[in-house]
Amino acid sequence: MQQTNAIEIIARTLSMIDLRLIDHGRNVALFTCNAMRAAGKYTEKEIDDMCLIALFHDIGAFKTEEISRLVAFDAENSWEHSIYGYLFIKRFSPLAHLAPVVLLHHTSPRFMDTVPEPYRELAQILHIADRMEISSRFGGHSAGDLVRYFADERDKLISSGLVSLFSRNEGSIDRDEMWNRICHAAHSRSDIEDYLKMLVLSIDFRSRHTVTHTVSTAEFSGLMAELFSLRRRERACIAIGALLHDIGKAGIPVEILEKPGCLDSQETEIMRSHVPLTEQLLRGRVDERVERIACRHHEKLDGSGYPQGLCAPELTFAERVVAVTDILSALCGARSYKDVFPKERVVSILTDMSARGKLDGRIVRKIVDSYDFLMERTALVSDPVTRHYEQLASEYDHMLESISDMRETGNFQLAPFCDV
Ligand SMILES: [Fe+2]
Ligand SMILES: [Fe+2]
Ligand SMILES: [Fe+2]
Repeated sequence: MQQTNAIEIIARTLSMIDLRLIDHGRNVALFTCNAMRAAGKYTEKEIDDMCLIALFHDIGAFKTEEISRLVAFDAENSWEHSIYGYLFIKRFSPLAHLAPVVLLHHTSPRFMDTVPEPYRELAQILHIADRMEISSRFGGHSAGDLVRYFADERDKLISSGLVSLFSRNEGSIDRDEMWNRICHAAHSRSDIEDYLKMLVLSIDFRSRHTVTHTVSTAEFSGLMAELFSLRRRERACIAIGALLHDIGKAGIPVEILEKPGCLDSQETEIMRSHVPLTEQLLRGRVDERVERIACRHHEKLDGSGYPQGLCAPELTFAERVVAVTDILSALCGARSYKDVFPKERVVSILTDMSARGKLDGRIVRKIVDSYDFLMERTALVSDPVTRHYEQLASEYDHMLESISDMRETGNFQLAPFCDV
C-alpha cells in the first residue's frame, strides 16, 4: 500500500474517536508544524516526526472515556488518555522516543520543572496547538485570541517566546502542503506497517475480548493463502485486507463491543455498521480487491450474510478465505459473549456452516486438516500481543496511581517517564 494512502486511512480512522473531533489530529499537526518551523531550530525530520505525533496524540482516547473533557477548553488533568496514548506510542510505534510528548500534552507547565528538554518544549507546543484547535472549533475564538490568552494568562508558565511561535508567519505552510509533507516524509515501508498495526491494535484493545482478533485473523489468512499456494499478489491483498477488515469498529461504542450476552436488534444494527464504516475508511485508498476482502468478511455463500447479502458467484476465493478465518479467529478467542471453544467445537461449527452452504467447503476442510499447525503458528503471533495487552494494562494502572499520588502531594516527578 502506498504511504499516502496508509497515512490517510490512519487519519480518517483516528477522526472516528469522536464525531466532535473530526480532523482534530490533522489540524493540531498543522499548528504544531508551523510553530516548529517558526522556531527555526528544528530539523525537517524533527518536524515531520512531531507532525505524526500530533496526528496520533489522542490515540489513547479510543480506550478511555474522557472525550467530553477533551472538548472542554480547560483539559488539564486529562491524564487517562495521555497515559494510554503514551504507552501505545512507546510500545508499538517507531516514534517511541517521542512518547513523553504525548504523555505530557495536557500537563500544566507548572508541573513540568523536572521534565528534561526537548520533551518540555515539544509537549508545550503540542499543548498550545491542541488547545488552539479545540478553541477555534468550539469556542469561536480565533487563533490570535488564543495566542493572546496564552500570552496573558500563562505568561509565567509558558514562556512568551514559545507562545509567540504561534503568531509568527515565517516559513508557515498551509494545510495541504503540511499534509503533503506528512504523506511524503521518508518513512520506511516497515515503519508505515508498524503505524497501521498500532492503529489496528488500538482498536482491538478497546475490548479485552478482541485483543488478538485481527492479528489472529490476519495470520490464519496468510497461512491459508500459503496452504492454497495462492499467487503473490493475491496473498498480499489477503494480508492487507485481513489486517484492515475490522477498522470500522473504531466507530462502534465500546459498550456494544464489550456487552456480555446477546445484542438486541438495535445494538446488532450498530455493531454491523462496522462494515460500511470500514468501507468508508478504505474507499479509494486501497486496491479494490483489498477493499472487497475487508468489506465482505461477513458475507455468506448462501446470501444470508451482511451487509450486501451477496451469494457464492459474487464472492472470490480470497474473500471467502477471510470470511472463514474471521469466524475461526472469533471461535478460538474468548469474546464478551463466549469462552474459548475447544478444537472439536470449532471444527463442528465450521463443518456445519459449510454443510449448510454458508462457508466454502474447500477452505473449511483445509482448516480441519491443518488445525494444529494453524493454531501453533498463529499463537506465535497472538500470544505476544496478549502479553503486550496485559503489560500495558498493568503499566497503565501503575502510572495512573503514581500520577494521582503526585497530584495529591503536588510533587510532580515526571522525569522518569521521559526515560524512553
Ligand atoms: Fe488530548
Ligand atoms: Fe487533542
Ligand atoms: Fe467484522
